Amino acid sequence: MCGIVGYVGREAAAPILLEGLSRLEYRGYDSAGVAVCTADGLSVHKAKGRLHVLSGMLDGGRAVQGTAGVGHTRWATHGAPSDANSHPQVSRSGKIAVVHNGIIENYAELKDFLQKQGVPFASETDTEVVAQLVEYFYENGKADILDAVGRCLHRIEGAYALGILCADTPDQIVAVRKDSPLILGIGDGCNFLASDVTAILRHTRRVSYMDDGDLAVLTREGIQRYNRLMQPVEMEITRVDWEIDAAEKGGYEHFMFKEIMEQPDALRRAVFPRIRDGEVFLEDFSLPDAYIRSLRKLYVVACGSSYHVGMVGKYCLERMLRLPVEVALASEFRYMDPIVDEHTLVVVISQSGETLDTMAALREAKRLGAKILSIVNVVGSSIARESDEALYTWAGPEIAVATTKAYTTQLAVLDLLGLYLSKTLGSLDEAERRRILDEMLLLPEKLERVLAGKEDIQYFASRYFNLNSVFFIGRNIDYALGLEGSLKLKEISYIHSEAYASGELKHGTISLIEDGTLVVALGTYGKLFEKAMSNILEVKTRGGDVLALTAESRRAEMSRTANGVISIPDAHPMLMPLLGAAPLQLFAYYVALMRGCDIDKPRNLAKSVTVE
Ligand code: G6P
Repeated sequence: MCGIVGYVGREAAAPILLEGLSRLEYRGYDSAGVAVCTADGLSVHKAKGRLHVLSGMLDGGRAVQGTAGVGHTRWATHGAPSDANSHPQVSRSGKIAVVHNGIIENYAELKDFLQKQGVPFASETDTEVVAQLVEYFYENGKADILDAVGRCLHRIEGAYALGILCADTPDQIVAVRKDSPLILGIGDGCNFLASDVTAILRHTRRVSYMDDGDLAVLTREGIQRYNRLMQPVEMEITRVDWEIDAAEKGGYEHFMFKEIMEQPDALRRAVFPRIRDGEVFLEDFSLPDAYIRSLRKLYVVACGSSYHVGMVGKYCLERMLRLPVEVALASEFRYMDPIVDEHTLVVVISQSGETLDTMAALREAKRLGAKILSIVNVVGSSIARESDEALYTWAGPEIAVATTKAYTTQLAVLDLLGLYLSKTLGSLDEAERRRILDEMLLLPEKLERVLAGKEDIQYFASRYFNLNSVFFIGRNIDYALGLEGSLKLKEISYIHSEAYASGELKHGTISLIEDGTLVVALGTYGKLFEKAMSNILEVKTRGGDVLALTAESRRAEMSRTANGVISIPDAHPMLMPLLGAAPLQLFAYYVALMRGCDIDKPRNLAKSVTVE
């Protein structure tokens, strides 16, 4: 959460920083700020609210002179959104300015220490401690800025990506990274730092991913990187190969809608190159067959929608592999003393590749001796780099806070992984394996058909958008899909929504069903269709309104009972969630649209969650 950007070059920094921040707002949008080095010291401007407030204040940046600066867009943790708590945070003399993504865990103790030295604080943030502490060492130790930052890093604990300016060295930015993402961009006569590539792609495609504990000094002439021991290190430069248009709305009203509609192509990218002659090919996959045969269980660990992918995956992987598959929320996994050893493959799923809880779980699993295979969207992200194997989803940049195309491609890659492992394990009937593979190749086209039916879903949204509460029910794989459908609806429309396993209705939830309660009943899983119908009848008998999702072949039957039916093309049962997710995403989208919600930036949320 929080986005940071930095620029040092020959052009005016502020407009470049504001443009960069506009691409990072998905990371947080409570307030924004910039600091630029000028002939008269640091010029710092911040404003509560969305970036356009700050941009308006600064005439798009034209009101600020100076060719080196840092910018920040905030998702508040310590201290409510306010001008004072916005970043950059500055030291008491105004000489040091800091933008920060992460949390300084021991900030209270350090603040206490500094206050005892007479340092006054102007904000409630943990970040101000960094600015004040750097100044403390800079002044007291008569150190240069780099030494002062180095000494500060020895004292702070927690996660941080930092961009630091010092008024006395106006042509340089110091960048630091530990457990929060930060990349360096190498331009022509200019250099950049950013929380992610999208912020600088307009200016350069050459990036260098900082390692944990790294520090870098950026000037317009070049970048010097240091490791945690302050030894200079070589920069490995990667070329970003996607176009900036991929991170733009391209005529769509919302990123979320664009990303929903992009799903067929995203699936093509994720699946097609990995299926050849009826076999799965996973690029750079190096886990030996002997290791795969030694596995006793799989653990899927993730957060949010990625966790829901794991829930679907449990049903699919256990069927394909005949091995136990446990699924855990990353935030729980790390504290549950999990039963994991060298015979456990831990599958970590993350769109951003930066979620702090997921990263911590990954490290815990590694410590326990497991191998880590990650399914990640953002190339070069921390989770991808710390895993033994990384499989990319190739969904392209996802900007809307509510994930859509990353979710579907994660499902597809997890299925491919299951099919790959099942071949080595000999755990799945060969004809069945081939059938699933063949059907995976048909998914993009089928999904296009689903998306073409969006007007029907819009109609249902218009019928139900005014409700206060919605339930999603389903059995087995449909229950797992319902979890995601429910999350989509609540996160962007703010309607209270819960997903239940249909069989559990009678153990409590059914008491909440009354006249007009909307129940979205998922009945795509053919084997349990009759059971799904029985649950629908139970709901209807108690006055509930049922909107059902089922396969085309079951539409007529379902229409006799449900109040409304959305159907998706028939496919292998394990692949139905890949088609069923899209109507649920569209339903959430249209409901939120009709309620006038801020779809791409729902309140209180952020896309990349780098705090615990
Ligand atoms: C946030 C996002 C969700 C996402 C979750 C996990 O809450 O809003 O869409 O599912 O983080 O993120 P990850 O990047 O690890 O998949």
